[in-house]
Amino acid sequence: MNKIRTVYVCDACGGRSLKWAGQCPDCGAWNTLVEARVPEKPARGSQQASSGDAEVRRLAEVEGQAQPRLGTGLDEMDRVLGGGLVPGSVTLIGGDPGIGKSTLLLQAAASLADSRPVLYITGEESLEQVGLRARRLGVAASPLQLAAETSVERMLATVAKLKPAVLVVDSIQTMYTEILQSAPGAVAQLRESTGLLVRYAKSSGTAVFLVGHVTKEGAIAGPRVLEHMVDTVLYFENDAGSRYRVIRAVKNRFGAANELGVFAMTESGLKEVKNPSAIFLSRHATPVSGSAVTVIREGSRPMLVEVQALVDESHLANPRRVAVGLDPNRLSMLLAVLHRHCGIAMFDRDVFVNVVGGLRVNETAADLPILLAALSSYRDKPLPNDLVLFGEVGLAGEIRPVYNGEERLREAAKHGFKRAIVPKGNAPRKGGVDGIQITQVSRLQEALDAI
Ligand code: TYD
Ligand code: MG
Repeated sequence: MNKIRTVYVCDACGGRSLKWAGQCPDCGAWNTLVEARVPEKPARGSQQASSGDAEVRRLAEVEGQAQPRLGTGLDEMDRVLGGGLVPGSVTLIGGDPGIGKSTLLLQAAASLADSRPVLYITGEESLEQVGLRARRLGVAASPLQLAAETSVERMLATVAKLKPAVLVVDSIQTMYTEILQSAPGAVAQLRESTGLLVRYAKSSGTAVFLVGHVTKEGAIAGPRVLEHMVDTVLYFENDAGSRYRVIRAVKNRFGAANELGVFAMTESGLKEVKNPSAIFLSRHATPVSGSAVTVIREGSRPMLVEVQALVDESHLANPRRVAVGLDPNRLSMLLAVLHRHCGIAMFDRDVFVNVVGGLRVNETAADLPILLAALSSYRDKPLPNDLVLFGEVGLAGEIRPVYNGEERLREAAKHGFKRAIVPKGNAPRKGGVDGIQITQVSRLQEALDAI
């Protein structure tokens, strides 16, 4: 066995030092050195013993078996996981406190426990608290096994006995391993505890869920390395005050990234929302100015959302550009394109843009609707109630196609939209889409003319 020694590793550059210091001697970053345990370098003579050839195989000869997936009993959750839980996988779930991570995992674990052993380890709440929640969720009669534990070593000893098919660890920040002296939640502890759990998952075929806290900035607390170590990273998001919860796969080794699952928090736990277009779209009885409807595609499904804009006279030297649910830089850029290529200036106006329903839109397909919503508010002229738009706006004032145009149009037609303005490249090849009249545009000016 190699001896273990303590070194301090910089989070930013990976540089190592033997002593802790406030500033990394390699890259000069402050407060980035964290304790880590590494095996002592093998003695010279032993070098020979450990080296040897790695096994090399032809790609075509490598057999990959399609893993059977475990259903979590929640279709939206299965969708985000890429079709169910993969045995031996490690899934990290992050989200703000109180958003419903423990609720979701308790519901999923209880459902999984119906046909296989499942162990739920809680490091944050007492068993009574979990029991109370289970009663509220109506799953108190489940054969799910519970343990309140924070030591990774004791936890691994327990799972070695119970051999669960699924292990839930709520949360990774409360776990500590006895090989390190630092407190639970410290970067080194997180990294080491996660490493132990990942190794356990891979060697035993147990599917592991880890709950992760998020920092004020919204990233999972601890270093990005946590995200690198696990197979799947899910984020739980919502709009402040809204009862809808969106779970998003930001990384998935077994499915599409950016897949969304939508839930509503109710008296008795999280309920799936099967038709999210219906909730993110609140149709106004009479058309109002500053509102545009678009079709975004998150993961594998198209979704209708409403983009709202308010353009108001500004009394500030630097008028405000506020974007909720989108990138503010993109908004500034789009307004510049509108000015340069269509001669409409908003530099003396405050511009506020919001995506209704607390959704975050990262897609360029929302460019055209954002601009037209802003313009509609600026001129105080509503867009037609049955109009849907999508398309990327380029810096040269061109409208660029987005992928899966036809599928987006079909989703819009399904929800009763009658007119669409879409990029030229996105027009359906033959026949069009039933019940929707499509206007194709290749320049921003053409889109404005079409309205
Ligand atoms: P919780 O799962 O404890 O959040 P997290 O683990 O992410 O911190 O979520 C608790 C919140 O959800 C709490 O504010 C109460 C609410 N809630 C309901 O509205 N209905 C329910 O059935 C349950 C169990 C919780
Ligand atoms: Mg919790």
